[in-house]
Order: sequence, then C-alpha cells, then structure tokens
Amino acid sequence: MCGIVGYLGPKGAYDILIQGLKRLEYRGYDSAGVAIVDGDGKLHVHKSRGKVANLEQVANAGCTAGSLGIAHTRWATHGEPNDVNAHPHVSQSGMIALVHNGTIENYAVLKKVLKDHGYEFKSETDTEVLVQLIEYIKLTSSCSLPEAVRQALLQVEGAYAIAVVEQNDPDTMIVARKSSPLVIGVGEDEVFIASDATPFVGYTDKVIYLQDNEIGVIRRNQPLQLISLHNNEPSAISIQKLQLSLAQLEKGGYDTFMLKEIFEQPSTLRDCLRGRIVDDCTRVVLSGVELNKERFMNAERITLVACGTSWHAALIGKRLIQDFCQIPVEVEYASEFRYGNPVLNNKDIVISISQSGETADTLAAIQLAREKGAFVYGICNVVGASIPRNTDSGTYIHVGPEIGVASTKAFTGQVTVLTLLALSIGQLRGTVDKETLHNILSALDKMPEIIKEALNVDPEVKKLSRVFSYAHNFLYLGRGYNYPTALEGALKLKEISYIHAEGYPAAEMKHGPIALIDHEMPSVIIAPSDSLYDKIISNVQQVKSRGGAVVAIVSRGNTAMTDIADFCIEIPEVPECLTPIVASIPLQLLAYYIAVNKGKNVDQPRNLAKSVTVE
Ligand code: G6P
Repeated sequence: MCGIVGYLGPKGAYDILIQGLKRLEYRGYDSAGVAIVDGDGKLHVHKSRGKVANLEQVANAGCTAGSLGIAHTRWATHGEPNDVNAHPHVSQSGMIALVHNGTIENYAVLKKVLKDHGYEFKSETDTEVLVQLIEYIKLTSSCSLPEAVRQALLQVEGAYAIAVVEQNDPDTMIVARKSSPLVIGVGEDEVFIASDATPFVGYTDKVIYLQDNEIGVIRRNQPLQLISLHNNEPSAISIQKLQLSLAQLEKGGYDTFMLKEIFEQPSTLRDCLRGRIVDDCTRVVLSGVELNKERFMNAERITLVACGTSWHAALIGKRLIQDFCQIPVEVEYASEFRYGNPVLNNKDIVISISQSGETADTLAAIQLAREKGAFVYGICNVVGASIPRNTDSGTYIHVGPEIGVASTKAFTGQVTVLTLLALSIGQLRGTVDKETLHNILSALDKMPEIIKEALNVDPEVKKLSRVFSYAHNFLYLGRGYNYPTALEGALKLKEISYIHAEGYPAAEMKHGPIALIDHEMPSVIIAPSDSLYDKIISNVQQVKSRGGAVVAIVSRGNTAMTDIADFCIEIPEVPECLTPIVASIPLQLLAYYIAVNKGKNVDQPRNLAKSVTVE
C-alpha cells in the first residue's frame, strides 16, 4: 500500500531509487515518482501515472546528478491515480519534497487552515497537506527542517511513514513513522530508507526498524540520530542483521514471481517446518507455545483475526484447533473485529495471521485485543514487521519474500504453521492422542516431497485452463476442511484473471448458487478422499444434472468421481487435515494459467496491492 524509498550517500541516488521502487512495486503501482537533490542543492522532481517503467521514461538527466533522493510507488487512496496526485509532493515554495505511505485522517481540517493562510493545493491528496504544513511551520517559526517535521507530525492524526528532503540541502534526509513501516539500511558511508528492507539487499545487511513516533535525522557523514516525536529526546539505536538474499528477490528463470512462488513450495514448506517436528515425528516444538504454556493451558477461547488469503488460512486454523485442542474458536475479519466491540478477557487468545505483518486492519485488531487483556499471538512471514512487533508471542512461517500480489506460498506456510500450532497446543493440553499426533507429524514431515509430487499436475492443468476460455463465472465448492480451500481457489482466480468466482460450502449450493449453474458456468470441486467424500459426490451430481462442467480435485486412485466429473485432477493422498495444503496446488496453477491465457499481469493485478497499510 504505497512504497517509499530514499538514499543518501556517495553514489548516484537515481538508479538506486528506481531499483528500490521496482522491488517495492508489490505495494502499489498506480503511479511512481522521484525527487533528487543534486550537488548544487537543486531539487529535481519527476512523477508519472502507472508503473515505475513509465517514470523512467519521463525522468530526465538532472535526476542522475544527485546523491540524495526520495521516491514513491503509489496505491491510490485520496485522489485518482494521475501525474498530479503522484508523489513526491512539493511545498508551495518548491523547497520541500515529501513521500508518504499511510493516510492523514485529519487532512481536511489542516488543509482548510493552510488555505486560510494562503496556501494553494495542486493535488487531491492528503500528503500534499503534510508537506505544506511542514513548510508553513518552518517559515513561520524559523526552525530547522527536523523540528518543522516534528511539529507538523504532532498535529497529524493517522498513519504515516515519510521521507523529506529540502532544496539547498543535499546532505539531509528526515524520516518518520507511525503505524506504517519504515526501515533504515546502514552502509559504510551511505544510508537507505524504505518501506521494507528489499531495496537495500545487495548494499547492506544492517537495518534499523524505526519505531512508531520516532523521527530519523540522516545527515551526510554524520551519525544517524533518532529522536522521539513527543519529547524531542534522542532514542536508542538498535541495529539488526538482515536475512535476505538477492536470489530471493529475483524470478530465478520463471516468467513471473507467482509461478516461481508456486513452484518454490516444496522448499518453502521445508523451511517452514525446519526444527519444529522432533523425536521421530512424535513431538512438535513451537517456541511461542513452549514459552507461554500457562496461557495456552488456561485459554478458554481462541479468536483468529486476519484479512484476505490469511483469513482463509484462519478458517482452516479454526477447524484444526477445534479438532486437536477442543477449545472454542472464532474467526473474524480483522476489519470487522476492530469495530465489533469484541468481548475479551485474559483467558482469551487472539491469533493474528498476516503474510506482510503490516495490514492496517489486522494491526489495529491486535492492538485492541491487547488493550482488552487478551494474549496476542502472531503468525507472520515478514521478519521484524509491525504485527510481530506488536504481539506477545508468535511463529514465523519462514517462506521467504512473497512478491506476486496473489498469495500462494504464504498460504500453504500459514496453514502448515496453524497445523503445528494446533498440534502443539493439543499436545500441551493432552487433547490429541499419540497415534494421531504421530500420523499427522509424519505426513507433515514429508510435505515438501508431497507438494513436489502434487506440482506434477502442472502440464495437465495448463492444458485444462484453455478449455475454460468461454467462462465468465466460476463456482468453487468444498466441504469441511476444504470449504476454505474453495474460497481461496476462487479468490486466486478473481484476483489475477478478473473472472467472477464464488467459493461456497458444497452443501449450501442448493440454497442459492445452484440457480446460477448452466453450461456456461463451470464448477471446481475440491473432493479429496475425506470424511465428507460421499456427501460431496451427491453435491457434484446436482451440478452435473444442471448442465454445468465439473473439474474435481481428487485423491490419487479414487475413481468414484471419474464417471461424474468432466475433468479430474489427482493429488497425493494425505490425512484429512492436510488436504487443504495439497489441494491448493492445482487451484493456484489453474488460476495462474487462466489469467496468463487472458494476457493478464499476474504479478501485479489491477487495483490490488500486496501490503494493505490503509483501512
Ligand atoms: C492483500 C493481499 C492479499 C493478502 C491480504 C492480507 O489484499 O493482496 O494477498 O491476503 O492483503 O494481507 P496479509 O499480509 O495481512 O496476509
């Protein structure tokens, strides 16, 4: 949800910023812009609607001269995605340039005050208000830029990560954050800033995660200074080591990041499981549970909060926790939970699930849960992100950077961690028997190989995808553990092919969606051999008798569906609770190839962003 990047050092800033923006494009690609202060102190600003590639066309030679700069890639919130609304925004005098990720909630009030003081606005954005306010304060109180930024931010309500530079000062960059992420990369004689650490990879592995209400003053050849927004006192600097490699940020020979990430799943699940299944598959170890045994022993209820794909993983988590821990579980959209006046106490555990660890609604939901006394546990992918830093404990899924906007390997990682978590709590509370534990852990331990085998359906699914060039609507049906898998399969198709797809519990279909079925509406049925297999067969017959084409995802060797469905895709057989992980593979591939056949940009689908840091 908007990415910002900045550089101050001996090198030319422009190329570093453009490369950084490309790595951050997953956060939004409605427009992009750059502001460079050259060696003579002249400010060069270029911006363009659309992707970073468009910006490269319009940026001119002046940009390449400076070694201080800030840049932005936008996911539009206030104002349509055009050149004027693109960042950086520049103050009225043209002296100060600013990039911003977040939302200034009280921008209308501030704008009115500034207009009364003669300020004029070019854009419809909330961000332009902030840069004008900084200039107004700087001019009227004759203070330094860091102090003007601090005083302006004291008046701002909302979320922000900002970077600010000033004409005539090629040696200073100011950054600040509240709720939106901002990381500082510290090199030998250079400093990078960005919404996440990916733009620094290859330059430095030393990073500082700026805290909420902290301002960073970065000056050429001087030690970095962090100061507190509220009391202007210096704060301590904690440098951490970044564990990211360049190879993780490249396509590695695949056409798209999404395809790479689908095919990476055998190795990402191996990383996710590493060290967590022990003693010949008889015990699971999650340090987050081990360190908080009492909380998990005494828990009376667990609430899972998440958004998007992570919410689908949460639905599977509910079933896993109920089956293995016998604790009542609720699943909430974080956006609903935060305004739903939830009733919580210190016997409640709230588990947040988030790939990015930055989703604004999920972050707000866990902050509320903590205020109400609940113990908050986070399941996250991005190490050091805001959500893990705001939880009491948690587990990383360790699947590496997910760059394709549609989530694939993070989903299977989340479901894997939820399985380990449910088994770990069940093991602690004595609600899972040894044989079940051993069977599931043994199968989970083999999951990397099982997924490798499941990926062998790739050519078959690719071929099948061409059959559906006629379809404008799809129905995805599943039951039990695989009702959420159906929701996730439908979401994948919607996100990247823009085909309407509805996920539904198979047995509920007869209460409405069955009216939609005709020969133009195919159904995808997730029907591995599980406890509801016979039931789902009759649901499929109901679809067939209305003339709809059926693609069934079935366990290998199960022939009962072959005569009924038009197409069967086989997956390896696994215990019922693990079927969502395996069944997701052909669903990801099907969505992928249908979108590719339609010529869509699968890595950067329209209107979407990977990290949603606004409400
Ligand atoms: C966006 C992404 C989805 C993701 C959702 C939640 O909508 O496009 O892929 O599932 O946000 O994100 P999170 O990072 O919290 O899992």
